Amino acid sequence: MDVQVESGEGNMPKHIAIVMDGNGRWAQAKHLPRTAGHHAGAKAVRRTVEYCAQQGIEVLSLFAFSSENWRRPKEEVDLLMRLFITTLKQEVKRLNENKIRLRFIGDRSAFSQPLQDKIKESEQLTCKNTGMTLIIAANYGGRWDICQAAEKIIQQAVANNDSNFKVTEQLLEGCLETAGMADPDLFIRTGGEKRISNFMLWQMAYTEFFNSAVLWPDFNEDYLSEAIFDYQNRQRRFGRTGEQVDSKQ
Ligand code: FPP
Repeated sequence: MDVQVESGEGNMPKHIAIVMDGNGRWAQAKHLPRTAGHHAGAKAVRRTVEYCAQQGIEVLSLFAFSSENWRRPKEEVDLLMRLFITTLKQEVKRLNENKIRLRFIGDRSAFSQPLQDKIKESEQLTCKNTGMTLIIAANYGGRWDICQAAEKIIQQAVANNDSNFKVTEQLLEGCLETAGMADPDLFIRTGGEKRISNFMLWQMAYTEFFNSAVLWPDFNEDYLSEAIFDYQNRQRRFGRTGEQVDSKQ
């Protein structure tokens, strides 16, 4: 395993993963429909992407729609799907100009054909960019990700007629949707709930959690820098003792 030992100011997280929770409550508090909360949430996405890119964050992962979110009322799901398409249409050119590479993770086959086409087109347009990677998790679930990785391994073994194959962490990691990406260093959840909600379960084994009571549409640069500052003052031990980490053993 690649053991990193880092702590202290100046140590920026390379990969930030966010569960953007609280759109509905934000809208309800303002006596607006939940959909207004998602529109305001999209604005917070724009702010967050800009700020992270400016700060030199290498990977930003946003949980936009979980495998379980299909259980929401149909009008809300439909609105979210429309919002994804319109946001992509509006933002991809600017993301590309800012050298941001866009990647989607999750089972996109459940989306409408126009949305699938737009996702593919935006990934193709930005795939050679060398700036921040923006990962949008859509129809994604951590358990699903591990299952689809296991399926790939089994299919490969069957194709190679290999009954003695060994499942290593490295092999499984290479089959996850995030293959090739560093694991998140910092996980932020807004909206006050203290749950992982089936986000990158495998990838977050050693991720530092930051919980914010702020509702996602209100999340801004100040809250984000507070989370980063908090992260910079943690000691990441990866199984070692604090003394070992202090003496850089
Ligand atoms: C959770 O808040 C939010 C979502 C399920 C949707 C996230 C979508 C956006 C932020 C909009 C646009 C995103 C992109 C990437 C264009 P909630 O509705 O569960 O809030 P609640 O807990 O207050 O009900």
